Amino acid sequence: MSFAFQVKNFDEYKQAYEKSVADPEQFWSDVAEEFVWRRKWDSVLEWNFTQPDVKWFINGKLNITENCLDRHLAKHGEQPAIIWEPNDPNEQHKVITYNELHFKVNQFANVLKNNGVKKGDRICIYMGMVPELPIAMLACARVGAIHSVIFGGFSAQSISDRLKDAGAEFIITCDGAFRGGKDIALKAIIDDALVACDFVKTVIVYNRTSIPVSMIKGRDVWWHEEIEKVEAQGNPVVHAEEMDAEDPLFILYTSGSTGKPKGVVHSSAGYMVYATYSFVNVFQYQPGDIHFCTADIGWITGHSYIVYSVLCAGGTSLMYEGLPTWPDAGRLWDIVDKHKVNILYTAPTAIRSLMAYGLNPLEGKKLDTLKVLGTVGEPINEEAWHWYDEHIGKKRCPVVDTWWQTETGGIMLSNLAGVTPSKPSYATLPLPGIQPMLVDEQGKEIMGNDVSGNLCIRFPWPSIIRTTYGDHERCRLNYFAAYSNLYFTGDGCYRDAQGNYRITGRVDDVLNVSGHRIGTAEVENAINMHTGVLESAVVGYPHDLKGQGIYAFVIMEQLPEDAQNMRADILQTVNRVIGPIARPDKIQFVTGLPKTRSGKIMRRILRKIAEGEMSAIGDTTTLLDPAVVEDIKNGRV
Ligand code: WT7
Repeated sequence: MSFAFQVKNFDEYKQAYEKSVADPEQFWSDVAEEFVWRRKWDSVLEWNFTQPDVKWFINGKLNITENCLDRHLAKHGEQPAIIWEPNDPNEQHKVITYNELHFKVNQFANVLKNNGVKKGDRICIYMGMVPELPIAMLACARVGAIHSVIFGGFSAQSISDRLKDAGAEFIITCDGAFRGGKDIALKAIIDDALVACDFVKTVIVYNRTSIPVSMIKGRDVWWHEEIEKVEAQGNPVVHAEEMDAEDPLFILYTSGSTGKPKGVVHSSAGYMVYATYSFVNVFQYQPGDIHFCTADIGWITGHSYIVYSVLCAGGTSLMYEGLPTWPDAGRLWDIVDKHKVNILYTAPTAIRSLMAYGLNPLEGKKLDTLKVLGTVGEPINEEAWHWYDEHIGKKRCPVVDTWWQTETGGIMLSNLAGVTPSKPSYATLPLPGIQPMLVDEQGKEIMGNDVSGNLCIRFPWPSIIRTTYGDHERCRLNYFAAYSNLYFTGDGCYRDAQGNYRITGRVDDVLNVSGHRIGTAEVENAINMHTGVLESAVVGYPHDLKGQGIYAFVIMEQLPEDAQNMRADILQTVNRVIGPIARPDKIQFVTGLPKTRSGKIMRRILRKIAEGEMSAIGDTTTLLDPAVVEDIKNGRV
């Protein structure tokens, strides 16, 4: 599809931006007109950031899947909606047209109905990267159920915490997932999670890897058998549920500075409008383009830019199962050539890890269909930016550095491919509708250019977080309480002489490891569960490949005799409690932690030690026991 809201040159960007600030309601109303509604909205926006309470397109009615599927059928029904590339390059890939995707979503919506799913029910999805994952999400949206996708790298304990928080009575999973040379036993992890969750009524299992699975009578059913039942019923048409603009579309859990992940809630209409608006403009999507986002659908990037925006735009979304480095470090480039990919969207951590293999894996790869390259998830260093630009884009393709968050639903700061200028390691300018500002610790606005501060947003955009599931006060405290009347991002930011924004990293106790968000408090809680551990403190340190590595300082009841062994055991506990993504890279056993007289851990000091910047530790006179600092410095691992 093409959209009138696509800006085509710098002047149009400036005009759109100015209009979006001068008259946001008219601006977003014009954008929203380009979607399919059951009923138009009565008014565009009601908001306050104090409670917070934000509503877009009030009393508008729609079903997002009619925008993702039905509206494309008449003209583009035979166009590929999803291209799926399996883990093993020797396995046949799949192409699913809009007609087929519509059919499959309807079929699975029947499965959900047959199993008693109703509007508003929460459904947890824990699957690998198979086409049935977006099919399951869209089927949930079709019947008005709220999906909560959990990334395959989370442990049973993490899953059961999320199931309880969301009150999810339904689970959709796979027997296993292929990831490089591994076969991950997803259903077995779900079985462990469910030991403590007897409120779960139904588990639907898609057969992907054919490993042995335990199927519990009365609870677990096979996806394919449920589909056969629907076929026997004659594939009845499921009427898409009419949703209010503000009805929740999904919950996605993410980490914050407390130990407990929070369920970010996104709305039906605002999310759809902004995700699609940002997709069409940032990547300058053209009808027929093949868009390849390498993220896992378990993260917001996959929700927004593999599933919802690309399908709303009538585009072709390529999703792959597997790893960039398996069977070799040429995997992504082979996929680009095989499927003639036009837009490639990946993470700095992937670029850095592929860079480390040198140029050999690029030999014989054409990459000549590429038009636009994107990055997301963490700051990209200039070296990686230039490598991507030169060796992948051959200096022909604009590189967009897209800054956003799970909570923002879509890209907030980014250059628009070929429309606004790029600057290596800068997310550059705000999208139309986004009003960033920098504030100091007191919340005073920092005006002018060539300045740094904490990044806030002063006006709502359609896909802003609506609440944290089950605990609205937590949403207020996390994002709207630090500075009055502002959304606080948790990021530090520099604005250069020309007004370009450069994200400098988190200013709270949240780590960004390989583009994955992990709370230090979560890792500490996990470590503290290990027998013999008295206390721990976790900080990030610069890591060549991962961006940030995890450094844990641990106090044991007794210093371990075999430190290596104890480290391995603690890692195993973190694995169990959170999952492999949260495993510390370094563990140092210490006898004390640098604390103030009031008992607060001085993380600033620990960060300097972890970074190896011993001389920059600064003042330690306010510490309860300054001597511990010397001990920790001497024992650095
Ligand atoms: C945090 C959000 C948004 C999808 C992936 C991560 C960091 C994200 C960039 C970028 C510098 C970035 C920020 C942000 N971040 N994109 N282009 N440049 N930093 O989503 O898990 O919600 O994490 O990732 O620190 O706050 P997330």
